[in-house]
Amino acid sequence: REDDRISRITSAIRVIPDFPKPGILFQDITTLLLDPVAFKDTIDLFVERYKDKDISVVAGVEARGFIFGPPIALAIGAKFVPMRKPNKLPGAVISQEYSLEYGTDKIEMHVGAVQEGERALVIDDLIATGGTLCAAISLLERVGVNVVECACVIELPDLKGRERLGDKPLFVLVS
Ligand code: PRP
Repeated sequence: REDDRISRITSAIRVIPDFPKPGILFQDITTLLLDPVAFKDTIDLFVERYKDKDISVVAGVEARGFIFGPPIALAIGAKFVPMRKPNKLPGAVISQEYSLEYGTDKIEMHVGAVQEGERALVIDDLIATGGTLCAAISLLERVGVNVVECACVIELPDLKGRERLGDKPLFVLVS
């Protein structure tokens, strides 16, 4: 049952207080990766949702989108495109800046990794303020890709990241 799978996934995520800063309750998915049943349930739930949606691109956000994205991409027959922190990709890139609580950050994607008109899913482990996913959506849309949906294992609803995504659909397993 789907509820049993969600419960197992929820229990497998470890919460660590005061990391990386005092007052932050860090959602640690490395314990989910230690439980092969819960990890497989996670991938299966995404694959079941996206397998018949004509998606040719799974774009994963560094770092933990690189863990969940590739198995989903392989299972649905899509390519995997890494969206990286600045100055990591060796080829020509397009970049997108986004605002943080203090200052800005940037993500980058290789030019030519995706083609105009492709249909993409954007995947990350967690949505907090939504800034990272917004930047990923913008990067893809700037080159003419249709972002069908964003997906995360975990949503922190108090931070209202979903609102920042506007009417872009967001699918999460654990809230
Ligand atoms: C975390 C998380 C998301 C992002 C979400 O990454 O994995 O990528 O923050 O936050 P937002 O919704 O407020 O943008 P982090 O900044 O810890 O970087 P890392 O994955 O490289 O450790």
